[in-house]
Amino acid sequence: MYSRIAGTGSYLPAQILTNADLEKIVDTTDEWIRTRTGIERRHVVAEGETTTDLAEQASRNAMEAAGVSPQDIDLICVGTTTPDLVFPNVGTLLQDRLGIRGCPAFSLEAACASFLYALSVADKFVRLGESKCALVIGADTLTRIIDWKDRATCVLFADGAGAVILKPCADPGIISTHLHADGRYKDLLQYPDGVSRGFKLVRAGKAGVLMKGNEVYKIAVNTLGHLVTETLAANGFNKDQLDWLIPHQANLRIIEAIAKRLDLPMERVIVTIKDQGNTSAASVPLALDTGVRDGRVKRGQLLLLEAFGGGFTWGSALIRY
Ligand code: UT7
Repeated sequence: MYSRIAGTGSYLPAQILTNADLEKIVDTTDEWIRTRTGIERRHVVAEGETTTDLAEQASRNAMEAAGVSPQDIDLICVGTTTPDLVFPNVGTLLQDRLGIRGCPAFSLEAACASFLYALSVADKFVRLGESKCALVIGADTLTRIIDWKDRATCVLFADGAGAVILKPCADPGIISTHLHADGRYKDLLQYPDGVSRGFKLVRAGKAGVLMKGNEVYKIAVNTLGHLVTETLAANGFNKDQLDWLIPHQANLRIIEAIAKRLDLPMERVIVTIKDQGNTSAASVPLALDTGVRDGRVKRGQLLLLEAFGGGFTWGSALIRY
């Protein structure tokens, strides 16, 4: 038994922040942001808009694409690091929004790799016969925890949500998923406050995402390079059998480096970073949905999804769409 993606959906908040807007907030330039990251604009949540709001819209779009209704869903698995509340979890809040009761609903946090973690977990539920229709989401509102005075991070992150519906299938589907973590790098990319630390930095107005970007960059390129090789080799596939690379959208230069490692021309990579920035857990399912909806990603094609984030955490999925 395998799982297959029956439908995809995504959602971006309406409000757009351009590089020109950021020039007015911090000491930066459109030219620096474009050439160093590939980002030109990004979507940002409005006052009162939450991760669950974005996740709900993405979920409804995915359910429509898959031809299923909320009553068909028997598992909700959300990857997010920016929940609305400490509890209930975003999966449970979403379950209530969708008007369904009883099925397991939870969130897990693995920073920008959260969607790949969620997909891997839900895939196992389906493969074991414990779910017949799983809703898997990557959603984040990273702009809520950004220090808007820190130009090293505030130009990068953005908000959004992406979702997929998984159903059982005799043939793959999801061929394999690969998850990794290495907590030794926690100081290179983190939000240094939280519940059991008493939100002391938050209370003092001193909290914000901290990133040693250059060090993260080097490890991300190296690690993702190994990850894509591992993912293909685990299944006996060659690079030239791949139809699409659907990467985490943190930096265009990182994406280009991984495409080069796979000998893939950029025409076979789904790139959304220019208009969306780094939407953390949402970036991979947003890119997947973009490719599906504009007709580039077709049934039967071989897709490689990958992401890298704080922790460090990283993960991939090889999928026959
Ligand atoms: O999604 C989770 C994983 N995250 C990532 O994978 C992100 C990985 N890192 C990156 O994408 C890149 O390292 C960044 C885009 C964050 C930074 O690019 P970089 O080429 O590595 O720049 P840098 O950090 O080495 O900084 C180069 C210069 C510095 O100035 P000096 O010291 O050379 O004078 C920075 O102060 O650029 C300066 N700088 C900026 N200048 C204008 C840093 N941020 C900005 C900015 N505008 N926003």
